[in-house]
Amino acid sequence: MKMQTLLLSAVMCSQLAFAAPPAVDPAMLELADQSRCLLCHDVDITVRGPAWRDVAKRYRGKPEVEEALVIKVHDGGGGAWGNDYMSANKRAGMDNIRILVRWILALPDS
Ligand code: HEC
Repeated sequence: MKMQTLLLSAVMCSQLAFAAPPAVDPAMLELADQSRCLLCHDVDITVRGPAWRDVAKRYRGKPEVEEALVIKVHDGGGGAWGNDYMSANKRAGMDNIRILVRWILALPDS
């Protein structure tokens, strides 16, 4: 391949990467699936629970909410997004819930 062609394809690739929505870590989606979060949540779409990118947006720059969110996901709770209530997710375990909440809070805007 000629150098110009290589350069051109590199530029095109970087533009493609720029236009695509930010990638979601498949290992984290897998953990969310195993933890049964995906029954009510999606990264981009509001299902029963809020879209996780919206959660990230609401709490951007407020790392102090992390622990309260971990406890809320574990014990269940409502009142923050609408009339629906999140049931407890105790079986997922505090450690996994903390990993998930940290990841959710760090999701970039779409
Ligand atoms: C039975 C459905 C259901 C399941 C299962 C569920 N959620 Fe939720 N989730 C909700 C609802 C409904 C809300 C909105 C609650 C509210 O308005 O305060 C919510 C809210 C949240 C919030 C934002 C809370 C806030 O106060 O802003 C986070 C973070 C969250 N869920 C993470 C998770 C994680 C992680 C799991 C898996 C371990 C999970 N959810 C499982 C229904 C669910």
